[in-house]
Amino acid sequence: MTDIVEKLYMTGDLSDNELKALIETDDEAAAKLLRERADEVRRKSYGKKVFLRGLIEVSSYCKNDCLYCGIRRSNKDADRYRLSREQIMSCAESGYELGFRTFVMQGGEDSAFTDDFMCGVISELREKYPDCAITLSLGERSFESYKRMKDAGADRYLLRHEAADGELYKKLHPAEMSLENRKNCLFQLRELGYQVGAGFMVGAPYQTTDSLIADLRFLQELKPQMIGIGPFVPHHCTPFADENGGTLGLTLRLLGILRLMFPKVLLPATTALGTIAPNGRELGLQTGCNVVMPNLSPVNVRKKYDLYDNKICTGEEAAECRMCLQRRIEAAGYEVAVERGDCVI
Ligand code: SAM
Ligand code: FES
Repeated sequence: MTDIVEKLYMTGDLSDNELKALIETDDEAAAKLLRERADEVRRKSYGKKVFLRGLIEVSSYCKNDCLYCGIRRSNKDADRYRLSREQIMSCAESGYELGFRTFVMQGGEDSAFTDDFMCGVISELREKYPDCAITLSLGERSFESYKRMKDAGADRYLLRHEAADGELYKKLHPAEMSLENRKNCLFQLRELGYQVGAGFMVGAPYQTTDSLIADLRFLQELKPQMIGIGPFVPHHCTPFADENGGTLGLTLRLLGILRLMFPKVLLPATTALGTIAPNGRELGLQTGCNVVMPNLSPVNVRKKYDLYDNKICTGEEAAECRMCLQRRIEAAGYEVAVERGDCVI
């Protein structure tokens, strides 16, 4: 199995059969070599740098009904909130003081977040923080909407494709959502000049090794600047409440594979990874990750952005979160970079 890792390291690609073997292996020597090679490749482009993204969870209202997600519209127990423009600006202000140079506004698909509202927020951020990157993660919108927000000053857009295997996509989403539209949105964002992030959950219900290979092949086609993956974690108020979550081992294997397939991509060690294992994010950093996304949302709403059970970092002030992560990053052998952290592609 270690020769497959070496082939991936040397060539950046594998056949489907080789990928299948590597994704499914429990060989410890292969896992160790994958981690070492992934770390070597990330250091070639990014050294020890880890980029911080200040995550502002702007709304927990969502018109969608994704079966895995705790803030899906059918969850009548969800305690909903949306931030005002003033609250978003105040999160950014404290974030800037803490050294964040990227703000990520993420939320459910909330019709109150009209193009006019979003463009107002984006323009104000752009004017106040010209040295910062503005990232959006607001789900599927029209081409016109993406264009207006880009023109207002947004730089990046995160939209996980969720599942490139059409059959799996249908099992994870309600009938009114389509993989075709999701993919179209990603290609439109790219056409508009956004730095684009796609990705998927690891260990989602009904996911197979073949569906994971389809995800990797789709990413090769899209060539995104950012790839977000994290384990699926069940939420007790969703149809998947009793399903198993994704494992640490499989998530780390996929992170290592992604780093070797996409040597320069921005790859976050996600909160979900830190949720399933106390040192999950540190292990992610040691397996090719170069981004972390600490929470800048006001403390009184954090528990309400309740995507999955036992989500970490819901009780800390932004400053505490920032310092905690800095300690973790340094203990893992890396350093925090106070800069926008654009992709070097
Ligand atoms: N509405 C935007 C969108 O659709 O991209 C952004 C918010 S959405 C909640 C952000 C991501 O959370 C999704 O892309 C999904 O992969 C992830 N997510 C949702 N529920 C999850 C769960 N139960 N476990 C792990 N990740 C989850
Ligand atoms: Fe948020 Fe530690 S990373 S409290």
